[in-house]
Amino acid sequence: MESLLFNKIAGAGLGALLFAVGLNLLGEGIFSSESPAKPGFIVKTADAAAPAKEEKAAPVAPIAERLKTATVAAGEKVFSSNCKTCHNAEQNGPNAIGPNLWGVLGGPAAHMKTFTYSGGMMDRSKTGAMWSYEDIDTFLTSPKAFVSGTKMTFVGLPKPEDRAAVIQYLRSKSAEPMPLPN
Ligand code: HEC
Repeated sequence: MESLLFNKIAGAGLGALLFAVGLNLLGEGIFSSESPAKPGFIVKTADAAAPAKEEKAAPVAPIAERLKTATVAAGEKVFSSNCKTCHNAEQNGPNAIGPNLWGVLGGPAAHMKTFTYSGGMMDRSKTGAMWSYEDIDTFLTSPKAFVSGTKMTFVGLPKPEDRAAVIQYLRSKSAEPMPLPN
């Protein structure tokens, strides 16, 4: 008996809820048909704020420019503090959480045959994509924005000069370093 009573109460509650939702929908249908030309109040959304912020940020020099002042020594430091937990960059060095990075610059996406890459990186590799200076720069800015579904959980290097330095370092980790861009 008690449970029957409970059902009735619950049923009444649900009915009231549905009624309220219905009323709300009806209300929207009636009242939201025309929006005022000038809204009475302005809600600042993240979207509205984003472009303004971008406009203020100093334009980032192209990677070809930044490489002119980036040194291998500075790059080694950036690598040690940001990449080394997951990557080894020595010739014949092991894969770790991430693939060995010897010869990655100028090489194909997913360049280490012995590493199990994400589906996202394998898809990129199938397009024949090679790691150009520009692509590594974009990847290191935000790995998951560049390769969706990447296994590289690293958040990215926000400073353009840090990216240039580590790219200069990676360039040196190759039997035939790729020519520097003009
Ligand atoms: C938390 C671990 C982790 C950190 C930190 C990390 N990586 Fe990675 N990295 C990975 C993994 C895992 C992959 C493989 C990505 C995939 O399969 O999608 C990868 C892939 C890469 C690739 C592509 C390799 C290829 O063969 O195509 C490059 C280049 C790279 N990382 C550079 C860096 C650099 C430079 C840093 C430091 C600024 C860094 N990574 C920091 C884990 C990491």
